[in-house]
Amino acid sequence: MKTRIAVLVSGGGTNLQALIDARDRGELPHGMLALVVSNNEGAYALERAKKAGIPAAVCLRAKGTPRSDFEARLLDILSQNNIDMIVLAGFMAILSADFVGHYPERIINIHPSLIPSFCGEGFYGLRVHRAALDYGVKVTGATVHFVNEIPDGGRIIAQKAVDILPDDTPETLQRRVMEQAEWILLPRAAEEVARELEMRNEE
Ligand code: GRF
Repeated sequence: MKTRIAVLVSGGGTNLQALIDARDRGELPHGMLALVVSNNEGAYALERAKKAGIPAAVCLRAKGTPRSDFEARLLDILSQNNIDMIVLAGFMAILSADFVGHYPERIINIHPSLIPSFCGEGFYGLRVHRAALDYGVKVTGATVHFVNEIPDGGRIIAQKAVDILPDDTPETLQRRVMEQAEWILLPRAAEEVARELEMRNEE
């Protein structure tokens, strides 16, 4: 049985699109994109899910409400859909140790730098690329890693380096890191983990 994957998103969903395109090319043979969950009802990623025929759900956390309520609802949605594995693809929420404990080494995340540089709490979106440019590094990249209780702290699955060019802005760098690293790395890593889990399930 294929590994049932839920993709968690908050925004544009270009990484989700990379997973969909990989699936359509037959490059995700051990995984099934079974569900997309967004914590933002306006996320364009939801449109992408619809176009690709993937069931989608919205799980919101209202300001000032406890994270545990949000996570309990999220866990419900995931278990109702028999999800085996979770891909965080631009999901702008930090998951608690309790939540992560339900899916040990079954949650992966894509981070737009070479961990352990420019990662951890507060490093998201353009901030990551701005920090790399401010520091003056000449090479950055992307990392896919397992998610544990430490933000961007879980075991590394794959990394890809990307050159920084002299005229880069955070925006141009973000785009190059996506094109040259994220969109290639994430589907490959998802397939690798899905394959491992499928084999483990059959043992
Ligand atoms: C990507 O840069 C990803 O690395 C980060 O958030 C961004 C999401 O972009 N975690 P998208 O929604 O997949 O287009």
